[in-house]
Amino acid sequence: MFYFDYSATTPVNSEILAAFEKMNHQFYANVGSMHTAGTNANDKLSVARAEVANFLGVKSEEIIFTSGATESNNLIIQGVADARKNEGKHVITTMIEHSSVYDTYRYLEEFHGFEVTYLPVDENCRIRLSDLQAALRDDTILVSIMHVNSEVGSIQPVEQAIELIRTHSTAYIHLDMVQSFTKIPYTFANLDIDFASISMHKIYGLKGSGLLYRRTGTKLVRRMFGGMQEFGVRGGTANTPANMVVGLTIALALKESEQKHTYVNAFHVQLREFLQQYDFIKINTPEKNYSPYIMNFSVTGMNSDTILYTLDEAGICISTKSADVAKAQLPSRILYAMSNCEQRATSGVRISLSHLTTQAEFDYLLEQLTTIFQA
Ligand SMILES: Cc1ncc(COP(=O)(O)O)c(C=O)c1O
Repeated sequence: MFYFDYSATTPVNSEILAAFEKMNHQFYANVGSMHTAGTNANDKLSVARAEVANFLGVKSEEIIFTSGATESNNLIIQGVADARKNEGKHVITTMIEHSSVYDTYRYLEEFHGFEVTYLPVDENCRIRLSDLQAALRDDTILVSIMHVNSEVGSIQPVEQAIELIRTHSTAYIHLDMVQSFTKIPYTFANLDIDFASISMHKIYGLKGSGLLYRRTGTKLVRRMFGGMQEFGVRGGTANTPANMVVGLTIALALKESEQKHTYVNAFHVQLREFLQQYDFIKINTPEKNYSPYIMNFSVTGMNSDTILYTLDEAGICISTKSADVAKAQLPSRILYAMSNCEQRATSGVRISLSHLTTQAEFDYLLEQLTTIFQA
């Protein structure tokens, strides 16, 4: 198999899997139990949480373990909406969010009477700060922005957006950092945000494992009732062994992250040059402010599924859209938002790269793409 779908998910690192298995054997007791085994598991979980907090430069009690970013996003958006609905019923997000954010905002709009502003994007798939400033109101209680877009890899101007929001409103700031975390350079603690969502399976960790950053003092109403786990924000017996390897997952992802970025960017640049040879190809990933891990392009006159299936027959895995919506036979909401062009939105292809990508795999990909484009 030739895997080029790392933005959908990554293979789990064997060191993480081994550590997870070990934790399962050693610390299977319920962290809520009063006996020594339960207390030991609880102590170990506290150490694991502190380790994660240390990587992010935040406090331990600001880290909430979840089942992944979909849960984190739902908990943040619905939880803040519930907690602050008496202060205001206006919220802001963008037209290019992952469905776990976008659909949750739609839910607030449809079922809870919230007014939602969906910020448009420019041709580089970036929000305009002027649109954000114009949208901010006295009754805006939450703004959610994705750091790196999962389909085209554009990096949003989050530092400037944060400054604007802090200057012009009292809204909480939520970043979906799934595609940016450990993949592009920034210091988490320097971002003046209230909430963030992060997923482990995008960084060679376990599926069904993620976290939520919640700044101390912010208001959040729980979604999951049933127990006081995770500081009373998320009921249910925790997946302790999975949570115990989150720190290791982050440590490994951060290891040589600059070198990995440079290595992957060399493929990204090569791929761009290759695609630029064909005048029927429109590259959707911007030339500036992009994540090198993602390359998206549209092929005029070709449906993206045809390309996907042809490559699949050659043993190559790519995707056409984000995996969450890939099976829906609809144009890409993200490509449509940035191009306003239905043809471009139905012919998008996403190739996602990794530090695990080899030159031989990459050469094979180009060879197969050449066959398709020259047919
Ligand atoms: C930007 C973004 N947000 C959220 C998610 C959802 O993450 P998870 O699979 O951990 O629920 C994804 C996964 O594709 C994503 O790319």
